[in-house]
Amino acid sequence: MSPERYQALDEQVETLLRQMTLEEKIGQMNQVAGSRDTTGAPANTEIEEDVRTGRVGSVFNAFGVEFTRELQQQAVGHSRLGIPLLFGYDIIHGFRTIFPIPLAQAASWHLEGIEQATRIMAVEGAAAGVHWTFAPMVDVARDPRWGRVMEGAGEDVLLTSLIARAQVRGIQGSDPDAVDTLAACVKHYAAYGAAEAGREYNTVDMSEWRLREHYLPPFRAALEEGCATVMTAFNTLNAIPATCHPLLLDQILRREWGFEGMVVTDYTAIMELEQHGVAADAAEAARKSVNAGVDMDMQSSYFIDTLSELVRCGQVNEARIDEAARRVLWLKAALGLFDDPYRYADEARETQCILTDEHRRAARTQACESMVLLKNEGFVLPLSDQHQKVALIGPLGNTPRLLGSWRADGDHDDTVTLREGIINRLGEDAVILCAQGVSNEIGDTDTSGIEDALELVRQADAVVLALGEDEAHADEAASRADIGLPGPQLELARRVLAEAGDTPVATVLFNGRPLTLTELDDMAPALLEAWWPGTEGGNAVADVLFGDVNPSGRLPMSFPVSVGQIPIYYNAFNTGRPKGVDPKYASQYLDIPNAPLYPFGFGLSYTTFEYGAIKSACTEIGLEDTLEVSLTVTNTGERDGIEVVQLYLQDVHASVVRPIRELRDFQRLSLAPGQSERVTFRITPEMRSFLNAGLERVQEPGLFRVQIGSSSASGEEIEFRVA
Ligand code: GLC
Repeated sequence: MSPERYQALDEQVETLLRQMTLEEKIGQMNQVAGSRDTTGAPANTEIEEDVRTGRVGSVFNAFGVEFTRELQQQAVGHSRLGIPLLFGYDIIHGFRTIFPIPLAQAASWHLEGIEQATRIMAVEGAAAGVHWTFAPMVDVARDPRWGRVMEGAGEDVLLTSLIARAQVRGIQGSDPDAVDTLAACVKHYAAYGAAEAGREYNTVDMSEWRLREHYLPPFRAALEEGCATVMTAFNTLNAIPATCHPLLLDQILRREWGFEGMVVTDYTAIMELEQHGVAADAAEAARKSVNAGVDMDMQSSYFIDTLSELVRCGQVNEARIDEAARRVLWLKAALGLFDDPYRYADEARETQCILTDEHRRAARTQACESMVLLKNEGFVLPLSDQHQKVALIGPLGNTPRLLGSWRADGDHDDTVTLREGIINRLGEDAVILCAQGVSNEIGDTDTSGIEDALELVRQADAVVLALGEDEAHADEAASRADIGLPGPQLELARRVLAEAGDTPVATVLFNGRPLTLTELDDMAPALLEAWWPGTEGGNAVADVLFGDVNPSGRLPMSFPVSVGQIPIYYNAFNTGRPKGVDPKYASQYLDIPNAPLYPFGFGLSYTTFEYGAIKSACTEIGLEDTLEVSLTVTNTGERDGIEVVQLYLQDVHASVVRPIRELRDFQRLSLAPGQSERVTFRITPEMRSFLNAGLERVQEPGLFRVQIGSSSASGEEIEFRVA
């Protein structure tokens, strides 16, 4: 932002602030939900009075030009100072054109693709009158029982941080005057993904070392990228709710990181301070959260109900109210809402920019890039497109529920189902024999439909098993203790695979979290992880199934052998008795392995890649030196392919324990058959740094190991020393 623009905005805000009463300033700190009637028409009667009297600063779940224009008129035309509303909405991985869920997008490791996807979702959301989206969600998560892993980028702090930057760039764009961008909101601050037992909203307790080393960096990355706002988390962190946490909201966010933007709470999180047991009533809850640094109250109304009195009785300084209101006004001014409150509400854009063919094409491309080939025994995949009678079996074969749970204005009617995708690919002459066989309802045991499914298998020359979770199974308030295939799907798979004999069977998985697939992996020759691929899901899966696209996804989260391994993550400590040192006295289980079924970074291809020996510029460097390492990667197969070359680093001896490996860089290569590319990585002092016991970021001399490969569990290693 230019100094001139900054100055102009500053004057605009300060002039307005000086005119405002205490109640009007507090009104800016109050956010309420907009609502619609059963026909989807705006039905905001219960909030209109507050909007007209300046008691509302922002309305969320508000989208649509008609909806937002109508409410804006109430605010601008009736309140004393005519301050415009800020419209917010959860546009997480698409507005109307729904892209793959964020965990799937992370599996693409394609930062440019992710930036493009978030650019498109911002264009569509802004065209519908939205100003502000509650994204990116950057909660690192190592527990797939937690339903919201679908909404983040998985278990690794670097991948999550790089994706957070890409998402902020896509959402906010680079032109402050543009009307096809949104203000972003990085969430949920902080450590929401570490809920004990993977149980939603549960307690979070960790050392400040782990908080700062593994959970905070993605937030800092988003803010360094210019993210406009922050949303507080529901959970407690070390016995203090995040929504009134001085260490998070003041010490780290403001004093250490210098963030000056607005902090909004999650939905009724201030009210929930009473349930947490740190507030006896609304006034105490409001006082604790506002004094800790919260600027806007989402939906609890505790600010609007109590802050005036708290200021009058001296429990809250009016200077704190001024600071919070200033941040809200600043955001509105930066969005140009004081110059033109209706600049985003444009009917023409709303009809021209949403769910376009171009957006669908982008969604289909990204869905293809997000899929992970987990197994392909006997090269079952890709299926030949000469198959003219395909049995499509399973509860996910003919459903539009491929959008995921945070689908904003996404419409199931727009979705291309897998059945439609296969028909589109094979042509109308192909016969697609469809049978659900069983449901994917949790707890369902009805297998009566399997026999009919087997009858179709007997007639087919290829079988596609479409299995997985329903959109409702991985979401907010959707933790699962058993993360196997819901319902009797495994029994269906077992019977179909047995009946199929030599008929090729490809299993496609649609799910929002890593599942425990050990039994399925034992019996299915070909497994393709498609996640929830979005509006173009059916076409994208068909593109990969029939080989038009070579899968290139790599897992952003470990897939456990058993739920008993959780939390499971690749960048673990070695322990003092690592497995293998002693047959009995070692860190291991009696009944299951330590290793996941599929490790972080894993994914197969329809082609093969060969890694040459790692070359290192030298074997010893100084503390401030950067070491270059390189190797050649060759496509040794017959198809074009994309390889994600991953670099992991281990600091073998340090003043604190260091993980056995940590992702420090990666490169996504596109190689034609026979093509080789020299890949060079630069191992910088920053990559070698870590937090020591005193929570200082340091780099120490000693022995380091470099691992370069196609997953966290593969690749050659070399050593070097830092003197
Ligand atoms: C929800 C979610 C949060 C979302 C907010 C508004 O409870 O936790 O991610 O942005 O409420 O819908």
